[in-house]
Formats: sequence, structure tokens, C-alpha cells
Amino acid sequence: MAKKFYVTTPIYYVNDKPHIGHLYTTVAADFLARYNRMEGREVFFLTGTDEHGQKADQAAKEKGQSVKEHVDFHSEIFKNLWKEMNISHDHFVRTTDAGHLKVVRETLQKLYEKGEIYDDTYEGWYCVPDERFWMEKDLVDGNCPDCGRKVDRIKEKNYFFKMGRHQQWLIDYIKANEDFIAPKSRRNEVLGFLDRELDDLCISRPKSRMSWGVELPFDKDYVTYVWFDALQNYISAAGFRGDGERFKNIWPADLHLIGKDILTTHCVYWITMLKAIGLPLPKRIFAHGWWTVEGKKMSKSLGNVVEPLRVKEAVGLDQFRYFLMKEIQFGSDGDFSVDGLVSRINVDLSNNFGNLVSRSLKMVSKYRGGKLPKPSGTDTAASLQKAAEKAIDSYTKHLEQTAINKALDEVISFCDIVNGFIVESEPWNLAKDESKSEILDDVLYGVVESIRYIGRMLLPVMPGSMEKLLLQIGLEKGNYGSDSWGGMKPGAVISAGEPLFPRIDGKMKEKVKAAVLPDV
Ligand code: MSP
Repeated sequence: MAKKFYVTTPIYYVNDKPHIGHLYTTVAADFLARYNRMEGREVFFLTGTDEHGQKADQAAKEKGQSVKEHVDFHSEIFKNLWKEMNISHDHFVRTTDAGHLKVVRETLQKLYEKGEIYDDTYEGWYCVPDERFWMEKDLVDGNCPDCGRKVDRIKEKNYFFKMGRHQQWLIDYIKANEDFIAPKSRRNEVLGFLDRELDDLCISRPKSRMSWGVELPFDKDYVTYVWFDALQNYISAAGFRGDGERFKNIWPADLHLIGKDILTTHCVYWITMLKAIGLPLPKRIFAHGWWTVEGKKMSKSLGNVVEPLRVKEAVGLDQFRYFLMKEIQFGSDGDFSVDGLVSRINVDLSNNFGNLVSRSLKMVSKYRGGKLPKPSGTDTAASLQKAAEKAIDSYTKHLEQTAINKALDEVISFCDIVNGFIVESEPWNLAKDESKSEILDDVLYGVVESIRYIGRMLLPVMPGSMEKLLLQIGLEKGNYGSDSWGGMKPGAVISAGEPLFPRIDGKMKEKVKAAVLPDV
């Protein structure tokens, strides 16, 4: 098993307020980072902000601020949000960091010297919002093929990265490495893109038009623009300076988590850049789907942009994190709706899991004075042990495949099994019959041990409330046992406590709606 795990999110543009799209990738990365730490791996979890380019420049001008002031302010908003969302990143990179700028300049110089970068006069279609040039053949109905917006005709000298020459080996590499791009549909999409001739990549902008970028070391009248700069955050933040020890221990990334809209930039631009630089390739790139909101595209003009802090306040942080991870198949598109949010919380967390916890802990309190009994050795709870082992095994397999929601499905199915076990074994009747005392001990032990399994499996997605629960069943902070049955110590002091996840009903639900989507 690999000893380290390096996971990244995209670095977010600083021109917009953070929304659930940004949060989604970041919580997914956080989930996997926390899970891998629990597995004993050395984790490096990176997120950050993408601060150069025309959009930041324009937004600052509109506000009458210096660009630096603007990007400092917005980068801080992301940083604060991640704190509020209990994100456990190890580093927050900014493309304006001195270390990042140095790496980008060194790479440019090296690739220029190797003949991988050349200049040419270019005439093409430019998409301002995406900050990308397109060829005539790429346009869809005369608009940007990525975002559908209008493009401008531009003619100027620029610098180009010889991306086209890497086409064949990239196709071969993707075909030979099934897991490199996931899910499969995205892998096919990239292969489809590579069916057509791959052009070289324009990587510069004349300063006269836009100077908010990284100055080219070989031409001071030009800066490099968004993608060639931004993608390198993944190596600059890992300490890339030639062959430093730290970098060697971290790179290559084990997982780049991205949204489906930035598939080409990661699977084609980034991979060919790394090949040209001469660095090992990331192990896996996983593109997730997009959220719509109440069935519609999320957009400022529709007033339906979901702000993470509002949802946190309305339903609770861990409930929200759980919903994001459980609601949609990781990799597919999905819909955010208040009905969906509330019913996910009520059904999975309040009714199923929450009831399991509260009834079980109450029984230990009522029948055994709040102390976990010692298992007596009957095979009463054998089926639970088997189910727990099966659940953790499938959970692990799913997470190793980045199938986050499927891992959570396993946990919830296991909760069903434990609830079913309680109903079948009728502890309330066992408690009335002294001769059944040993069986009752085994039922109670088995159920609380199962809760330990569930708490551990849910810890990466709901770290705050699961830590509280694991302490409530008498475990020590940070030491929640292993994947083997029998981690609970007999005699552990169990406190019944308040319900972990209150149901959201009637008026409460209306309040949630008003708080989360005030303009819809
Ligand atoms: N700065 C670039 C990434 C550079 S990475 C080297 C960028 N930034 S972004 O802020 O526009 O978007 C970041 C991520 O948010 C993308 O992965 C995108 O898929 C994701 N989302 C934006 N809207 C989304 C939804 N509605 N739903 C899910 N994710 C979405 O692109």
C-alpha cells in the first residue's frame, strides 16, 4: 500500500464569491485526505487561489482597487471559508506567492532553452471569460466551445508551447493506463478530443494588453497567462526546484480532483507540460460533475447561487458536508434542492443513524448503568461482526477508487443492518429475563462496537460530530481503534447525550428554504 497521498483541488479564481461548486471539490478532497491520514499515509492536501489574468485585473479596475489589494482580499475569503468548513488542507497556494512565481519562471526558461516554446504571430478567436484562444474549427455556432459565450478575433505575436508534438504518446498513455482519467466517460471524452489534431498552446499575453501575469524570463514585454501559470501550482506548492528532497517525497500527485469543465486543461495541457519538463505524471485525474440548483443552472442572474455559509448556518456543517458527498454519484451531475437536502438529513442522519445511536446508548445506560458490558462469548452478535467487516472492506475499496458516495452507501446500509439486529434481538425483552443476561451483554457490546465502526467511517465526512460521538462512547480523542472487531473496551463509560442530528420538519424546513435560497 502506498505510504503517501497527495491530493489537490483546482485553485479557485478570485473574481467570484465561493459557492457550492467550489465547496464540493474541496470537501471531497478533504474527505479523502482525512481518510488517507486515518489509513496512516503521509498526506499532502493542497488547495489555493488562481490570481492572475484578465478577470482579476478587470474586477479590480471596476472596484477602483489595485489588483494586489483585490486578490489579497478575495483569497482571504476562500481561506476563511475553508476554516468555517473544517477543511484540513496542508497548504494554501496562491499564484502570486514568490515561490510559485519562481517555479513558473524557471520552467519557462528551461522549456524555452529546450526548444519547447517558440514565438509566432497568431490570429485566432479569444474567449475572455475562459482566457483561452480557440481555432475557427473549435467554435460551436461561432461561440466558445467550453462556455458558449462570444469570442473576439485577435491578431498578435505570442509564445507557444509545442503541445501538438505530444499527441501520440498521450493517446497511447491514456489507453495503456485505464485508471489515469476517471470516470470512464471523461477518459473517453479526452480520447475523443485527441482524435482531432492537437494544436500548440498559446501561453503568453502582451503586457500592453494585460500585465497581471508572470513575466516571461526571455521577453519582458510578455506575461504568461492563466493555465500555463496556474497548473504549475501543483508542483510549486510541493516544493519543485529541480530535485529537492521534499518534492521527491510528495510528487507525483496521487489525485487531481477537478470539475468536468477543466478536463482538457488538466488531462492534455498539464500532462504534456509535465512530459516536456521531464517530471513523472500524476497517478489519477478525477473529474466530478456539476450541481444544478432546484433543476436550473446555477447563475448570478437567476439569483440561485448557493452560498456555503448560509447552508451551514441553516442545517449544520456536518449535515451539509454529508449531503454534498452522499447526494450524487461522484463523477455525475446532480441537483441541489432544499427538499433533497432536508430529506437526506432526515432519512439518513436523523432517522437511520441518529436513532440507532440514541436508542443504543440509552439502552446501555438503562440496562448496564452506562458501562459497556464485556462480551460473554456467545455468537449472538456474529452476524453484526460479519456485516461490519464486509462494510469496512467495501467502504475501503470504494474510496481507493474515488467512489465517495458509494462508500457512504455502504455505511448507511450497515446502519440499516444494525437497526434490524436490534429489532430482531429485542433487548427490551432480554432485559426482563435474568437468564438472558449474557445474550443482552453481547447484543449491547455488538451494537456499540458497530457504532464505533460507523463513527470511524463517517469521521472523514463529518469530523466534528463523529469525534463527539466517538468520545461519547468512551474512546480517547484521536484513538478510535482499528478496522478489527473488538476495538471497544468493556467497561467504557457511555453517555447517552443529545440527538446528534435533529430532524428538520414543518416550519424549520421553511426557514431553511428562506435562508439558503432567499431569491428563488
Ligand atoms: N482557476 C481555474 C482552475 C485552475 S486549476 C489549476 C478554475 N477556477 S474556478 O474557480 O472557475 O472553478 C473551480 C472549480 O469549480 C472547477 O473545478 C469547476 O468545475 C467547479 N465548479 C464551478 N461551478 C460548479 C458547479 N455548479 N458544480 C460543481 N462544480 C462546479 O476553473
